[in-house]
Amino acid sequence: MAGDTPVEALTDEQARVELDRLAREIAAADRAYHQRDAPEISDADYDALKRRNAAIEARFPHLVRPDSPSRTVGAAPAEGFAKVTHAVRMLSLGNAFEVVEITEFDARIRRYLGLVADSPLTYTAEPKIDGLSLSLRYEGGALVQAATRGDGETGENVTANARTINEIPTRLDGAPDILEVRGEVYMAHDDFAALNDRQAARGDKTFANPRNAAAGSLRQLDPAITRERPLRFFAYGWGELSDALAETQKGAIDRLGKLGFPTNPLTALCDGPDEMLAHYAEIEEQRATLGYDIDGVVYKVNDLALQARLGFRSTTPRWAIAHKFPAELAWTRLEKIEIQVGRTGALSPVARLHPVTVGGVVVSNATLHNEDYIAGCDAKGNPIRDGKDIREGDWVQVYRAGDVIPKVADVDLSKRPADAQPFEFPNACPECGSEAIREEGDAVRRCTGGLICPAQAVEKLKHFVSRAAFDIEGLGAKQVEQFYRDGWIREPADIFTLQERFGSGMQQLKNREGWGEKSAKNLFQAIEERRKIPLDRLIFALGIRHVGESAANLLARFYVSWENFRNATSNATVGEGPEWERLTGIDGVGPVMATSLVTTFHQKAEREVIDRLVQHLTIEKAAPRGAVDSPVAGKTVVFTGSLEKMTRAEAKARAEALGAKVSGSVSAKTDLVVAGPGAGSKARQAEKLGVEIIDEEGWLGLIGDA
Ligand code: IVH
Repeated sequence: MAGDTPVEALTDEQARVELDRLAREIAAADRAYHQRDAPEISDADYDALKRRNAAIEARFPHLVRPDSPSRTVGAAPAEGFAKVTHAVRMLSLGNAFEVVEITEFDARIRRYLGLVADSPLTYTAEPKIDGLSLSLRYEGGALVQAATRGDGETGENVTANARTINEIPTRLDGAPDILEVRGEVYMAHDDFAALNDRQAARGDKTFANPRNAAAGSLRQLDPAITRERPLRFFAYGWGELSDALAETQKGAIDRLGKLGFPTNPLTALCDGPDEMLAHYAEIEEQRATLGYDIDGVVYKVNDLALQARLGFRSTTPRWAIAHKFPAELAWTRLEKIEIQVGRTGALSPVARLHPVTVGGVVVSNATLHNEDYIAGCDAKGNPIRDGKDIREGDWVQVYRAGDVIPKVADVDLSKRPADAQPFEFPNACPECGSEAIREEGDAVRRCTGGLICPAQAVEKLKHFVSRAAFDIEGLGAKQVEQFYRDGWIREPADIFTLQERFGSGMQQLKNREGWGEKSAKNLFQAIEERRKIPLDRLIFALGIRHVGESAANLLARFYVSWENFRNATSNATVGEGPEWERLTGIDGVGPVMATSLVTTFHQKAEREVIDRLVQHLTIEKAAPRGAVDSPVAGKTVVFTGSLEKMTRAEAKARAEALGAKVSGSVSAKTDLVVAGPGAGSKARQAEKLGVEIIDEEGWLGLIGDA
């Protein structure tokens, strides 16, 4: 805090001491903000420190320090880690909590592969380690690169840090020439406790849990620090390989073990759901004494040829699933209910809680979902929690499962304060005062302020610059808020005129708290780099309701160019006409998403914001669905009759992965009919229309799978 003595009353000596303290405090704040992404003081407090420093220097010019905060411009921005594009994407896992979900998982796989109920199907079952995933690349037996998962496609290059982890071999004997080993970096309980003691003794930051400690230790810029941190590693998978490791998952893991990687001793082979669940129970029983955190059990199809046939959905493999341990619970006081406004105007109630530890993590906020949830009913008016409502001051049960946002699950009426009042959900937006309405069938109340609502505008901008969208380095959520407050960026287009509006000098930004010459220059350069943007990222970045990352990708691949997409969505009419049919004909685009897209482009203000943005961009066309060189890309294919080498689901997924559109009925638009034994009316229809008909062998030959 700034000193209390008025500047006029300071003696020379007092001024010198205070300037010294201010220099240190401001430098520390700069480091927290720029290098650790973790501001420790508010903007207002920071400003106060800088003003105090300037005032003292103005009165005592002879005391200005060489390292004065008025001379240095912020801290050098953290160099950050270089980015690494993964040769093979790093995926995540689907989650299951209930026993039936495991039998369904097995049934789904059997259906997909066309296996009958009693034919054998073996799985591996192993603990799901609660750490962070790491991909280690070996070439010619030497560790050449280590990368975090990042968004799955690009991660951070943490090679220097990974080399300091004892459990990670830097040289391998007898390994495939190219080998990417994937696994989890974690910290054991004992090591975590000792680390926190050391940190506390030194007055350094302590970590909330072993996972954070592991992540913080690996993802920091000084390998010497990583070396001091007791990190461990379990290998559980692989990425690129020049030669297969084995024919089975278990065989491959054993091979990694022989090459010198730690593998989890609780990995077992299980013949079907009963054995998987039995092993789950065993692991759960040992959980408390393992000495490291696990949050569930991962099941994987053991046969690697079957894994290959099963393949992936957009972000998760079909051949694996994470069976999570039940959520953790705790009771605490609900101090206040606050309303947050999201980028689509949704008013979300957030519970501010008296801090409580839930499964090792301190929780002070939890979601209350929506107004019905607070009132004690679901969207159809059926009671939930036996119809008990939730009030400020209540004693509530907080529930946390894995990484998901904690939620308020229950309320103890016997502890309700006598004066607690039912919560009145606002009908007006707390941010802009516009009416907040609930449309029929919508559980959520939304601000109608649209672009005039500052909360929506800021959230939209944050989404715009987020990692899967424009991903502008140096322009994160915090900076967007700062620029919005200052009126420098009000809509996405403003980002691209920022430098031009500042003129060449960059003086204004440079003088801003938290910005120095270098960070300003880097920011403008990062913005320049993003003037060229792939179509799918742009569509996702627009933040249109219901259009997530994978939908944006589908749309981009379908429309290929921005012009096509813009024309189609602007010309379509909700519910009718050929453009609407085309849009809703895209596999994965339903009427709800289509309506959202069309209404967005029909709103003048929204459309203008988008058009203003697009002027500044060079939009890269998307590759049409599937590999460009696939002979079936862009073709409409119909499967009919029975297939012998694969199931219908598998055939459809394969065809779609190659860029074909699979349809259920034959029409003039059909390009190809794959007819197996027993094909009937569809084959006849195809003949009548002159559509090409081939058999399963012909199809496999065509797609190069014969
Ligand atoms: S397999 C393609 N096995 O869990 C699937 N993941 O929720 C690759 N994890 O990103 C993952 N223990 O960081 C696998 N035994 C295990 C795991 C494991 C922990 C992590 C991993 C992954 C995340 C998905």
